[in-house]
Amino acid sequence: MTNLQRIDSLESLPRDELRVLLETHTQDDAEALFARARTIRERAYGSAIYLRALIEISSYCKNDCYYCGLRKSNGKAQRYRLSKDEILACCEEGYAQGLRTFVLQGGEDPWFNDERLCDIVGAIRKRWPDCAITLSLGERGRESYAALFAAGANRYLLRHETANESHYKLLHPSEMQLSARLLCLRDLREIGYQVGCGFMVGSPGQSVDYLLDDLDFLRAFRPEMVGIGPFLPHGDTPFANEPPGSPELTLFLLGLVRVLLPGALLPATTALGSSMQDGRERGLLAGANVIMPNLSPAHVRGKYAIYDGKDTRGMEGLCGRIEALGLEIGTGRGDAVRL
Ligand code: 5AD
Repeated sequence: MTNLQRIDSLESLPRDELRVLLETHTQDDAEALFARARTIRERAYGSAIYLRALIEISSYCKNDCYYCGLRKSNGKAQRYRLSKDEILACCEEGYAQGLRTFVLQGGEDPWFNDERLCDIVGAIRKRWPDCAITLSLGERGRESYAALFAAGANRYLLRHETANESHYKLLHPSEMQLSARLLCLRDLREIGYQVGCGFMVGSPGQSVDYLLDDLDFLRAFRPEMVGIGPFLPHGDTPFANEPPGSPELTLFLLGLVRVLLPGALLPATTALGSSMQDGRERGLLAGANVIMPNLSPAHVRGKYAIYDGKDTRGMEGLCGRIEALGLEIGTGRGDAVRL
């Protein structure tokens, strides 16, 4: 029996015991965790894996996060923004491929004001009433979130990045504040969005204590979605020479989050797929139940470079690889289940 198999109720594991697990787990412990995570996922979602059409609408960003290749100080970043027609064409393509969630993701680009975004969201809502619209456009005001919700958006992804105040300061310039980020997450939830948060694994300065802060935060906030991927350096950022985060630790955390939040929508992230060849498949085997293939137009796919070596794969061969794991492609919107 592995150490982990001796623990009955992982979901209520005290922080100190989570720490021991994070610091001392063996490969056998990891496998035992993943098996439990898969059972829990099965109970919540059966064998369905949900696909989300990821549409990267703008590579402009007014922020200057030290880890991100799209930071405003990176003069080498290639900037673009998609037009409404281009975005609708991406949705059309995704819908034809069976996808029923569109994720509009972008840097914090002031050009995409409420008027332009509500027009786009409204058009998508009208044309595909059976689909979910997820936004991932960073920090905005409460009124803006409310207007976008009224226009038809259902879900919002805004990673908290780190739940520890001093770690947040190490990753961001002083004009960005953890408290502002958390306020956004609370506003989004109050307005009625299904909310996603998340963090990078192995970001510079991250300690086990900080990861425990992240897990405590997730247990308290109980987001519907959680995005977790390894930190991967980008050559034109202040963190260019920092080591990448561990994909194995990322998988372990995915398994833990599945156990802590049984009903969460948990993507095997692009960063995980970028850091190991079969990362997305291994993410599913660790308890993830969402994959977000890239549906951005071909001419911009290389330009949304938040880190080096980003995987830009779309739908090619994806369904076959999921089915080869004994899983199936979820039909319908794939909303979070409340457990
Ligand atoms: N490595 C991994 N993930 C990153 N992100 C941003 N930069 C990097 C990087 N260098 C993640 C952040 C952000 C999301 C858009 O991508 O968590 O919220």
